Amino acid sequence: LVRRFAPIEQLRFCNSGTEATMDALRLARAHVGRDKIVKIEGSYHGHHDAVLMSTKPPIDAAGPVSRPNSVPASKGIPSDVKNNTIIAPYNDAEALERILTEHEGEVAAVITEAVLMNVGIMLPEEGYLESVREITRRHGVLLIFDEVKTGVTVAPGGITELYPVEPDLICLAKSIGGGMPIGVFGGREEVMRHINHQEVVHLGTFNGNPMSMRAGLVTLTQIFTPEAHAHAIGLSKQLGEGYVWDIDMHLSYAYWLFLANRGILFPPGFDDQWTVSIQHTQADIDHHLHVFHQFVSELTR
Ligand SMILES: Cc1ncc(COP(=O)(O)O)c(C=O)c1O
Repeated sequence: LVRRFAPIEQLRFCNSGTEATMDALRLARAHVGRDKIVKIEGSYHGHHDAVLMSTKPPIDAAGPVSRPNSVPASKGIPSDVKNNTIIAPYNDAEALERILTEHEGEVAAVITEAVLMNVGIMLPEEGYLESVREITRRHGVLLIFDEVKTGVTVAPGGITELYPVEPDLICLAKSIGGGMPIGVFGGREEVMRHINHQEVVHLGTFNGNPMSMRAGLVTLTQIFTPEAHAHAIGLSKQLGEGYVWDIDMHLSYAYWLFLANRGILFPPGFDDQWTVSIQHTQADIDHHLHVFHQFVSELTR
């Protein structure tokens, strides 16, 4: 992981993406010495209180586009948590600049998925991530990339490899464990050392357990090879390009059933993304696109 992700000099293992973002945020607060964080509207970082805000807020509660409200995504979150989680709109560097200026000296970190992958897939506009990096640095705020979904899938070194932007901390989980529970957060020694010096606690019975470590090592060194990665990206491209028509949101449940009845199971969430696995084959993609065409002909018959 250190070889794949340039900003990671040191890392710690935990058990999930939720733990990775929770621990990274605590570390950032300790390093910077401030309490508040900025989270991007629509971004999902797991189910701990600080980030379970404005993940998919109801439209009547979301607030103004460029000044979104902090909307808890669950009951049971103490009411004062939202005071420390400020919500910024995605792809709006100006709004981030304003928020950090209004809260000068109060914000420890900006956490974001560099590509939003929990509200469909939203790509950063040209220059956005670079501006976020420049703005956070200027305000003395750490930048945390949540690469729980993108890490080692969109490229061997995640989004951090694809964009010329170095975050201060990176969070990883999911695919890096090859199916076993795992999480990782890492960054520069200067930040990570608060844990090494026991100023910040990082605890967990199963952190770094041998089963997950072995599965992760084998996944990264023997299974998720550059060839396997190129294969999956190639199939993914074909699948994307094969969808020559859009399917209306209102038909997505019918489409889900249509696919399920023909041996294709994809996540039932209407705005969930599909990820091609390195185990998928050309035959899988051909079958999928064949069923897609069948569905369209049924509708237009
Ligand atoms: C971007 C992102 N971060 C964090 C998480 C939380 O990970 P976990 O479910 O392993 O706690 C998820 C889970 O979907 C995620 O998509």
